[in-house]
Amino acid sequence: MNVLGINASPRKKGNSHHLMSLFMEGMHEKGYNTQILDAMQLNIKSCIGCGNCERKGDCIFDKDDFTTIFLPAVMKADIIVLASPVYFYGFPADLKALIDRVQVLWSRKYVLKLDEFKGRNRKGILLAVGATQGKDLFDGMKLTARYFFDAADICFTVDLCYRGVDQKGQMEKHPSGFSDIRKLVDSF
Ligand SMILES: Cc1cc2nc3c(=O)[nH]c(=O)nc-3n(C[C@H](O)[C@H](O)[C@H](O)COP(=O)(O)O)c2cc1C
Repeated sequence: MNVLGINASPRKKGNSHHLMSLFMEGMHEKGYNTQILDAMQLNIKSCIGCGNCERKGDCIFDKDDFTTIFLPAVMKADIIVLASPVYFYGFPADLKALIDRVQVLWSRKYVLKLDEFKGRNRKGILLAVGATQGKDLFDGMKLTARYFFDAADICFTVDLCYRGVDQKGQMEKHPSGFSDIRKLVDSF
């Protein structure tokens, strides 16, 4: 089983990185293949809405890190975990730019009617942190994650979202963070 972690935080060893590391270490210990991609490190163009993917099923930006690194990793994965801070009630811009480019998979699925993930039971997870306490804090991210996962034929299986987490290192001291992730690892 291939597990892909997508880290959306630009902060080195921050709160979402901590959650992602715990999860991926646990999955690695279980014998699964793990790979982590850092959204910030990928050099990509933003989607320009040209419609090439709706006509031909491919992106015109065929040589950047989305097409050569991110898309193949997403297609190969059996489990995808997004780890992200809330930025203005959504995902940080680098991850959002990657998700916009997943329009190529949306087009193949819904316009060109390709069934390229047939028979695969792919699962998606969201691990998120935000500083404040608002009831709607994670709603924007959950919606974006749901439609990203849907375009890639991934079932949005579970999310773990932590409010009131702001300073670096805070997630490591969270009372249930460690055991929540252990339970999540054990569920696979
Ligand atoms: C640009 C920016 C925007 C943010 N927007 C929000 C927000 O809308 N709501 C919120 O609760 N926290 C917001 N935060 C706080 C982060 O979500 C919080 O510090 C989080 O713990 C950072 O996680 P990380 O260490 O994984 O980067 C924002 C932080 C930054 C830098």
